[in-house]
Amino acid sequence: MQENHAGVRTTGGEEAIAALRNALGADVVSLPAEFGNRQFADWSSTPAAIPVALVRPRTTDEVATALRICHQYRQSVVTQGGMTGHAGGACVLDGEIALSLERMNGIVEIDPVSATMTVLAGTPLQLVQEAAEQAGFMFALDLGARGSCTIGGNIATNAGGNRVIRYGMMRDQLLDVEAVLADGSVIGGQRKMIKNNTGYDLRNLLAGSEGTLAVITSAVLRLRAKPRAVSTAWCGMPDYDAVTTLLGRAQERLPAGVSAFEVMWPSYAGFIRQRMPELRAPLAGDHAYYVLIESCGADPERQDAAFEAFLADMLEAGVIVDAAIAQSESDAAAFWAIRDAPAEYPRLIPGRISFDISFAVAQAGEAAQRCDERLRARWPQATILVYGHLGDGNLHVVVQEPDWTKQTIADVKKVVYELTGEMGGSVSAEHGIGEEKLTLLALSRSPAELAAMKAIKLALDPYNLLNPGKVIAM
Ligand code: FAD
Ligand code: LAC
Ligand code: ZN
Repeated sequence: MQENHAGVRTTGGEEAIAALRNALGADVVSLPAEFGNRQFADWSSTPAAIPVALVRPRTTDEVATALRICHQYRQSVVTQGGMTGHAGGACVLDGEIALSLERMNGIVEIDPVSATMTVLAGTPLQLVQEAAEQAGFMFALDLGARGSCTIGGNIATNAGGNRVIRYGMMRDQLLDVEAVLADGSVIGGQRKMIKNNTGYDLRNLLAGSEGTLAVITSAVLRLRAKPRAVSTAWCGMPDYDAVTTLLGRAQERLPAGVSAFEVMWPSYAGFIRQRMPELRAPLAGDHAYYVLIESCGADPERQDAAFEAFLADMLEAGVIVDAAIAQSESDAAAFWAIRDAPAEYPRLIPGRISFDISFAVAQAGEAAQRCDERLRARWPQATILVYGHLGDGNLHVVVQEPDWTKQTIADVKKVVYELTGEMGGSVSAEHGIGEEKLTLLALSRSPAELAAMKAIKLALDPYNLLNPGKVIAM
């Protein structure tokens, strides 16, 4: 028996690896000497160990065989998708086996009548979006890591992103999820119906389980009608009240509703303007807030006119100070490129600390302001960027100063998470808990909720073998 750096038990070791190699072959189960320079960490700053073996199954049966053997030898396993996670959930702890879904990549079926797509868990999100589009539909989940993140990872983190305000989180795009439990049994499958009230909703239990309850192997996704008209604008706003007023009025008055409402504080917009000058600023002048608003609908003739008229009203009422309306897809793409710039963070702002917190929409402006003030009071030189999916109350705060020590990083986190707890917010809006926020879960969940989560974990994974040391401390 071993203990890794998170105090999590991992056993099995050589016997488990030998049994896995024997059952699945050396092509599926590789050893450290065969890894090359493969990375085992995600986008968070969580350190990652080298796994004792890497399992890359091709089928659900192979996943089931692997987990059955791990169960038999009490060997812990971390599941890995596209490794774009921000919470350290996919990072390897000492003594663990890594199980990557990379070979389970592909679209199994598109059913245009039921508006569903069945996909393997290792399929990248962008591939799913493109296949949906080619079939005349839209897959509603969208986020900056679309090229690398996988559907399995999106389900396991219950990913959010840019269109939650209209279409919901990843859990709202799921009709069924096939997954392998810790003992190797397979649950879920190919059900395509929207209504299914047959007992506990295991599909929803797996959404957001971050590899701690099962290995997700495939899913039936819900497709949406492809919008025939997409209107996009970039607005300069005078104050936070104006931001929430614009949101409320847009939801009330835009015939096609609001499909994205992204807000950028001047700290973020200014930083991107300065560090990525190739991205054209949509508006001249500086504003207190910037809003990227999008409305997707089915009536190209009426929609653009209604969108323009609405923004003109908002300008006249002083809710908006200035606005640029996209006249083409390339204009809209240029607005989105500014919002998608976090994909460049490793180059632009190395060593950053990233927060993904949420509040009631009415409070998010004040939360951002207090957060900025408290951080500035202690670290006046720090770079602090604030932006987020504000239509969902979701703020991203990025903080960095070169040469910070571990202690300073811990102090910065304390400031932000204490404020989040004080204001009744969530320590994770969309990125999940992973390893990074393990000790913070209790700030956003009650003791009774934590006890219920532990009971579920132990019922499904009695030896705590699936991603131990992540999400909930056992
Ligand atoms: P990984 O990082 O590989 O894993 C994440 C977690 O899921 C781990 O706990 C892992 O064990 C588990 N897991 C992965 N695959 C499976 C599986 N098949 N079965 C069981 N467990 C599994 N996230 C948002 O929510 N909204 C955003 O707007 C957003 N924007 C981003 C922008 C950028 C530039 C980047 C780099 C990331 C962004 N993210 C965002 C975070 C990240 O992309 C998502 O969390 C994504 O869902 C992770 O998918 P992945 O395949 O990379 O998962
Ligand atoms: C974003 C990621 C960080 O929205 O969630 O940019
Ligand atoms: Zn986000």
